[in-house]
Amino acid sequence: MDKFIIEGGYSLRGAVKISGSKNAALPIMAATLLLDKDCVLNNIPHLNDTLVMNKLVNILGGKVSFEGNTVRTANKKIKEFKAPYDLVKTMRASVYVMGALLGRFNKAEVALPGGCIIGERPINLHLMGFEKLGAKITIEHGYIKARAKKLRGADIYLDTVSVGATANILMAAVYAQGETIIRNAAQEPHIVDLSNFLNKMGAKISGQGTNTIKLTGVTSLKGGAYSVISDYIEAGTFMVAAAITNGKIELQNAPADNLEAIKDNLKDTGSEVKIKNKLIIVKGSKIPKPSKIDTAPYPGFPTDMQAQWMALMSVSSGTSIINETIWEKRFMHVPELNRMGADIATKGNTAVVKGVKGLSGAPVMVSDLRAGASLVLAGLRAKGTTEISRIYHLDRGYEKIEKKLEALGAKIRRFK
Ligand code: UD1
Repeated sequence: MDKFIIEGGYSLRGAVKISGSKNAALPIMAATLLLDKDCVLNNIPHLNDTLVMNKLVNILGGKVSFEGNTVRTANKKIKEFKAPYDLVKTMRASVYVMGALLGRFNKAEVALPGGCIIGERPINLHLMGFEKLGAKITIEHGYIKARAKKLRGADIYLDTVSVGATANILMAAVYAQGETIIRNAAQEPHIVDLSNFLNKMGAKISGQGTNTIKLTGVTSLKGGAYSVISDYIEAGTFMVAAAITNGKIELQNAPADNLEAIKDNLKDTGSEVKIKNKLIIVKGSKIPKPSKIDTAPYPGFPTDMQAQWMALMSVSSGTSIINETIWEKRFMHVPELNRMGADIATKGNTAVVKGVKGLSGAPVMVSDLRAGASLVLAGLRAKGTTEISRIYHLDRGYEKIEKKLEALGAKIRRFK
């Protein structure tokens, strides 16, 4: 298994180009199953997760090629309607093909995704939405089956804000007769991007980016080209990299509009943040100030930045409080950060982070994607050598992370 060795203590300086958004690319790649016309997707990050989605669409009978950051799809003929357990267990976002297959063919079968390290991750809201649209759902032998004679628009209220349920219901409802309303919908940039993609292909969606999304069913979609948005979580991670190393990083191609929560919190802790169109420049401070954050659905502080933020707060000048409100088990990075000299205690969904003077390099293990990012950030700050194992989690969601960090002056090497 690959690992990273980081020699810490260097300030990062220079420019980095932010890649396409993983969490936009995945549902959009799945949504190409709704199209019987060809489609070209640009700015798709080359990651393990997007490769898995690529493979899944191919297994279903679609024709997908993935070269550089461009995905070309020709999904006129789909012959399989079942997403197998082998793929679903490696990537939960595989469940997105369910909405797309159901939407176009009135049938879909997907292995029931299990829990995962950060929480239970139920999909009850996705299924409730499909049922409201007229599908019959059955669960047998570890697979969920959805079947419909005809899908009809419906008024659907999500009692918890869910990115996955919002995206899956959107895809299922594109061809449903009449109007669909999704209330308490997720407002994340990737939901807006999926809606914009579908609209470019001919769907009639409005309200994306607010908590009420409306769709009017259409009878056909066209093909065409689309470019996915940049990744605001990758951008946020590099912003914290500048802050934690007391460096100065210029982020190019960054989704500045989606980074309000990170930007404001970074400023409050003493970093300078300047935004000029698609450029974000972050200059760290020697010792960051402590902060209090609660993770929340967009536009709140993203849970996907909580672990990285905790690494930064571990070297602050005081005590920080971090409340994780989305995932019940998302503190797996805490014991690893403590192995590097951090002073973090957790109780329930709250972490109390007492800032320490310095971190020291140590062997640590990655439990999940963003926990991995937090350990890399801690390793960049720590004195001495940090050896990070199980970095395959990072390869799921950060494109060429070590190359990008090296170009900024980090001493990081991948060992196979
Ligand atoms: C997506 C992101 C993930 C991020 C999360 C929250 C992708 C591929 N993944 O995950 O990185 O951490 O949004 O921003 O985009 N819930 C239910 N029932 C459901 C669905 C969700 O109760 O049917 C709950 C979950 O347990 C969780 C909350 O809703 O507490 C948010 O989950 P959701 O937004 O659905 O997360 P994902 O789409 O899985």
